[in-house]
Amino acid sequence: MNAPIDFIQITDLHIAEPPRPLPASTMNTEDSLWLVLRTIERDEAPAFMLCTGDLANEPVPEAYARLHEMIGNDGCPIHCLPGNHDDPGMARDAGQSRLRWDATVEAGNWLIVMLDSHVPGRIDGRLSDAELKRLEQTLARHPDRHALVCLHHHPVPMESRWLDNHILKNADAFFAVIDRHPQVRGIVWGHVHQAWAGRRNGVELIGTPSTCFQFLPRADDFAFDSLPPAYRRFRLHADGNFTSEPIFCELTL
Ligand SMILES: [Fe+2]
Repeated sequence: MNAPIDFIQITDLHIAEPPRPLPASTMNTEDSLWLVLRTIERDEAPAFMLCTGDLANEPVPEAYARLHEMIGNDGCPIHCLPGNHDDPGMARDAGQSRLRWDATVEAGNWLIVMLDSHVPGRIDGRLSDAELKRLEQTLARHPDRHALVCLHHHPVPMESRWLDNHILKNADAFFAVIDRHPQVRGIVWGHVHQAWAGRRNGVELIGTPSTCFQFLPRADDFAFDSLPPAYRRFRLHADGNFTSEPIFCELTL
């Protein structure tokens, strides 16, 4: 019961239709996801995985169908939330695999809340009133569980001018909810294609690099970093502490 729980976060898979390197990148995003999944397999098996959005690069059924095929049914569940590139209904309907779309995930005495910050047709993010209410009610119902809150968009600036245009636009309303619930231990996102860590009112803030190409930190204008595909490994402890580290794959694409 008190053993630590290990899980893995993958994010920003950007599976493209047709499969191809995306503009200005030389990386085929299916090859890079394959590399990440094989790297994860070599490590100790996680209890589950999270996928924090941008599963597809364009929301078309073919991209999601191929992703379902790549992911398959063997192994732990992968709990997903949508990114700005996604159509969550289409992703669900496009196939059967271990991808899941549960609103919350229970793990020991931890609760992971999966939020939807995507707004159709926009790159930036926003949590709807309904989603903010669900967060409030979920945290209020579970004051004794340590909580991680996950979403696609960054709720604090990355100090990168172009990327901060695409931030979570109603972060104040989001943090107003978080501040009412001291059991929240961490907030975890994708979208930024880089490793980032900070702290706010005792809550760890964590951005995770992509399974494909990475963005150059603190760049005023759009720029790629040369770092390889990556994921993040978490360890949750029963006392409410947790650790995490980004893991960059050895590039053998
Ligand atoms: Fe994104």
